[in-house]
Amino acid sequence: MNGIANIASELRAVTGGKVLERVLMSGYTTMKVGGPADALCVPADTDDLCKSLDFVESRRWPCFTMGAGSNLIVGDGGIEGLVILMRGTMDSIEIEGDTVRAGAGCALTKLVHEAAREGLSGLEWAAGIPGTLGGAIAGNAGAFGSDMAAVVVEAKVRIRGGSIENWNNRELGFAYRNSSITADAIALDAVLKLNRADKLEIQKRMKEIMEKRKAAQPLGEASSGSIFKNPAGSSAGRIIDELGLKGKKRGGAMLSHVHANFIVNTGKATASDVIGLIDEIRREVKSRRGVDLEPEVRIVGRETMK
Ligand code: EPU
Repeated sequence: MNGIANIASELRAVTGGKVLERVLMSGYTTMKVGGPADALCVPADTDDLCKSLDFVESRRWPCFTMGAGSNLIVGDGGIEGLVILMRGTMDSIEIEGDTVRAGAGCALTKLVHEAAREGLSGLEWAAGIPGTLGGAIAGNAGAFGSDMAAVVVEAKVRIRGGSIENWNNRELGFAYRNSSITADAIALDAVLKLNRADKLEIQKRMKEIMEKRKAAQPLGEASSGSIFKNPAGSSAGRIIDELGLKGKKRGGAMLSHVHANFIVNTGKATASDVIGLIDEIRREVKSRRGVDLEPEVRIVGRETMK
């Protein structure tokens, strides 16, 4: 975009964080695909994030905020304007009794382990989920019968335009893999209510969860987790598996042999390989089963380089 050199240099004068130019997003997504963002900023802390967003909005620059990139596919043409990365920053954890307040950039796994160390139960299901607390809230991450909706009491939310509000659990609008956290309302931090429990029991449960995950999901490979949401009362993975589609390839993208609702990057996949494979699977499931699969992953950015 025009004036990108200005974005980076003007932003450097405002933020106390880090600003990089022409950054390949493949390095910031767990699927390891995606072209360049014009600029990428890692704010120093929450105040710095808010200050940077105020500035970016006053300049009307396109801006995309993201966490760990674990549920995200960025197009090969990259992202126009600025990406604000909330991973590796804003990751404080404060524990008081059975209540935890943590920053949106906090890695979910760090939170899970910290809670376990304190003898707090309620997050064991999240052991091994790659992602930030903010991303987990936005997508209402869940597994093994629980989800973020079950533990989040409230979150501090910055609304586009600059106001900051506390949203309680109801206002966060949690639904299956969905919430009211959007590009226009970003979670800054959250309060979680957990339960006191035996530390050894918590650790045992976390180990069980990790073992189940390892057995059922291609954890060692580059992926974005589940590609599709489960249709009501059914399972996307089971449907795709029953159609014999495991191992289906498009370029370097392949439908995992371990779990049919995972696409893995076998090494040299492009975003267009991944997105093309998603489309192919959707079409095949629709024509052979009459089911409309809805992607769980977010697909953002330009398809091709300008
Ligand atoms: N199945 C198959 N073949 C496959 C995969 C699954 O037949 O290749 C069958 C399984 O045997 C099982 C059913 O499908 O009967 C459901 O599979 P699984 O237990 O693996 O759970 P899932 O519904 O595919 C959901 C979440 C996961 C979460 C697991 C564990 C969604 C879209 N996915 O998967 O979340 O880890 O449950 O609770 O809701 C994610 O959101 O990224 C994610 C990984």
